[in-house]
Amino acid sequence: MSNFDLIIIGSGPAGYVGAVRASQLGLKVAVVEKAKVLGGTCLNVGCIPSKALLASSEHFHFALHRFAAHGIIAKDLQIDLPAMMKRKLDVVSGLNKGIEFLFKKNTITRYEGHGSLLGNGKVLVTLGTEKTEIVGKNILLACGSIPVELPFLPFDGQQIVSSDQAIAFEKIPESLLIVGAGAIGLELGSVWSRLGSKVTIVEFLPRIAAGFDTEISVALQRLFEKQGLSIHLNTKVKSAKKDKKGVILTAEHDGKELSFTAEKVLVAVGRKPYTESLNLELAGVKLTDKGRIQVDAHWQTSAPGIYAVGDIIDGPMLAHKAEAEGTAIAERLAGQAGQVNYKVIPNVIYTSPEAASVGLNEEQLKEQGVNYRTGKYLFLANGRAKANDTTDGFVKILADEKTDKVLGVHIVASNASELIAEACLLMEFSGSAEDLARTIHAHPTMSEVLKEAAHALAPAHT
Ligand code: NAI
Repeated sequence: MSNFDLIIIGSGPAGYVGAVRASQLGLKVAVVEKAKVLGGTCLNVGCIPSKALLASSEHFHFALHRFAAHGIIAKDLQIDLPAMMKRKLDVVSGLNKGIEFLFKKNTITRYEGHGSLLGNGKVLVTLGTEKTEIVGKNILLACGSIPVELPFLPFDGQQIVSSDQAIAFEKIPESLLIVGAGAIGLELGSVWSRLGSKVTIVEFLPRIAAGFDTEISVALQRLFEKQGLSIHLNTKVKSAKKDKKGVILTAEHDGKELSFTAEKVLVAVGRKPYTESLNLELAGVKLTDKGRIQVDAHWQTSAPGIYAVGDIIDGPMLAHKAEAEGTAIAERLAGQAGQVNYKVIPNVIYTSPEAASVGLNEEQLKEQGVNYRTGKYLFLANGRAKANDTTDGFVKILADEKTDKVLGVHIVASNASELIAEACLLMEFSGSAEDLARTIHAHPTMSEVLKEAAHALAPAHT
């Protein structure tokens, strides 16, 4: 039986990043992964493949609709879907190899198979009929999450699919109905709409992208509808019927019954922690009432020596949050003071334009009774945005009325995912809107809009 300082179950952003950090800090680390490839959901069927498809489909859409205005004549544009999918797979496999290289470089031992807890620091790795027992001083559960299924819409992998299949359609569906207007529904809805599918999104809540500031939700909806997406809010899907041609969904809106027919249905109503067959009870690991693994402020579960991070514990199911937790727990186990600032976690939707936000939104500030000021600026008035043909969107900064400390930044812009990093850094240092306003930004850049939005709070800076 092999002995380790740390056994990590799961090789997603929480697990593999934690493994590398722990190993760099001198711990003897093993990672148990049931898939053949490392990287988890994010790398293999989540963040990375979806971003590859978003990039390819955005190039196509731009060529189709905007090239002429740039004086570029592109005739008979066509989509080669197999080539697009191959590029996506190449991107993923290149990064898979990158993690393999990191494991070798940092002498991390990899076990292929399903990991389960045996108590007393032992982990059983099962691969087919082969069973291996390993033992560790500490165990880190980083098993991630899986798509939520609706009881009346069970996944069949063909007509009713999760994001796992919707990033790998072999042919462009004529029509795609998406249940849920969260990050997955909006991103994959954008991909297939740009490639020619008739996309309809049905959302139970009164707005799309519900985790974001309402102004962002409203702006995004207007832009997506202009791009051809059909969006139905306050609409709850209730039942489904399948035939050879497609799926017929019945939904309810304002007490009225609606019917939708589509070739394929993508169910994107959230994800749930993946805790299957871990033997949690035997090891004394408790769950919260929401089914996530219960941890204390330092990611320790109810069982001594067993820790948990990422999607299986509370908090937003985001790769970068998982990564930060993986790093911090590795540092703590190596005797350092690793920590995560849960107040500064950016949230991004990678559509066109993108939405990105960090900190509190207006609704949350009102709820908490915080007095705040708002500074807003549009990309329409920015030189670089004009030159780039990316004028959609705005930056909104919320700052404390008295202290001017930035409490939240909300962006809709073609590269909002990159622009938000400046706001994160500012907030990490408890910066003020004045700090941002007085920071010289290169001209012409889209980042100047952040500075201008901070200047819009100027009366507070005199
Ligand atoms: P989500 O929780 O973000 O959105 C699901 C939406 O489905 C909600 O708006 C909900 O109101 C709606 N819904 C639920 N039941 C419904 C019903 N019966 N009928 C109509 N609408 C219904 O979940 P999503 O988009 O599936 O994403 C899963 C997780 O993965 C999230 O935590 C998300 O943050 C994360 N993710 C993050 C990405 C990013 O950072 N860009 C990309 C993809 C996923």
